[in-house]
Amino acid sequence: MKSILITGGAGFIGSHVVRLFVNKYPEYKITNLDKLTYAGNLANLQDVENMSNYEFVKGDIVDGDFILKLFNERKFDAVIHLAAESHVDRSIANPTEFVLANVVGTVNLLNAAKHIWRENDDNLFYHISTDEVYGSLGEDGMFTEETRYDPHSPYSASKASSDHFVRAYHDTFGLPVVISNCSNNYGSYQFPEKLIPLFINNIKNNRPLPVYGKGENIRDWLWVEDHAAAIDVVFHKGKVGDTYNIGGFNEWKNIDLIRVICRVMDKKLDRTNGESEKLITFVKDRAGHDLRYAIDATKIKNELGWEPSLQFEEGIEKTIGWYLENTGWLESVTSGDYQKYYDDQYRRR
Ligand code: NAD
Ligand code: TYD
Repeated sequence: MKSILITGGAGFIGSHVVRLFVNKYPEYKITNLDKLTYAGNLANLQDVENMSNYEFVKGDIVDGDFILKLFNERKFDAVIHLAAESHVDRSIANPTEFVLANVVGTVNLLNAAKHIWRENDDNLFYHISTDEVYGSLGEDGMFTEETRYDPHSPYSASKASSDHFVRAYHDTFGLPVVISNCSNNYGSYQFPEKLIPLFINNIKNNRPLPVYGKGENIRDWLWVEDHAAAIDVVFHKGKVGDTYNIGGFNEWKNIDLIRVICRVMDKKLDRTNGESEKLITFVKDRAGHDLRYAIDATKIKNELGWEPSLQFEEGIEKTIGWYLENTGWLESVTSGDYQKYYDDQYRRR
């Protein structure tokens, strides 16, 4: 039985990856290691928690001794590393936390893998990263695997640094690694601080929708379950030492996307057409706000045969429906001081 460590499995993307692997590969033993920060919730994994090939371990990847001990005990064959601090606005408020979780945490995992893995064993360290490492595009062009790194936010700088460490461990120590850099994900179980679930939650509660700047920034959106499927493909078929860009060829200007969300919400909540749009409030722009991200996902399509399965119009309807149906989940992750924290952020803008 292959033993696979998935880090950050209680988060948004990680929970979809855990669910996919536990169900699709009964022959794998999946260990989900997660610190359960504000963004990690075991409620994301209730449907798999009793599966016999699944185990949850609460722990912090920043604690190098703990990580080494865990690897010595469990002898993982492979790692799919998703644990990270992931929100750009929080990285602007507290960059050091991002260096610790994203850079030091990744290096601790690399050290532990290097310590227990031997040459010619069938191992893989799969590092999940973001397109934000490439910086910002102008009106034209797309990020390819050859685009130079040019991160601007503390978040993207920390992810870029972790990507470099992963490649350095491959080049210097021969560690078998693979990296993928994905565009913005949307779908179920995303913590309501990222644009789409935050705005769904705010519309539902008749709260303002804080649009940064003029809403003209562009993001390339991919349904999270398509990202999980791509991770499955890269894990099993990706070439060791390579990088794969993952994206949906689905660019949206923020304000246009927000208007779509408002229209779908009006329909689903039986509100008059245009009611939700009245909540749009233009606020001070994010510092260092990248203008445009767009992924060229040709390599993964041509070499590994992966393509997104879902059209955006269907995906966004499905996603909004999910948040409106899963009120228990939404209430549990927004309990405590959630509203106070985000009201505070809003006031500061
Ligand atoms: P998330 O914030 O929803 O989840 C992150 C998870 O990591 C949480 O469960 C959290 O508890 C855990 N974690 C954080 N610090 C930890 C630590 N020190 N030790 C152990 N666990 C810790 O993030 P996400 O959106 O699911 O992103 C997952 C990965 O995918 C990240 O590496 C992110 O950079 C990358 N990524 C995200 C997107 C996106 O659109 N969300 C796009 C491309 C790449
Ligand atoms: P976000 O979901 O934070 O993802 P990222 O910054 O990693 O791309 O933001 C997506 C876009 O939406 C980004 O251009 C910033 C913008 N945005 C707002 O306008 N208002 C908000 O309240 C948030 C959270 C984001």
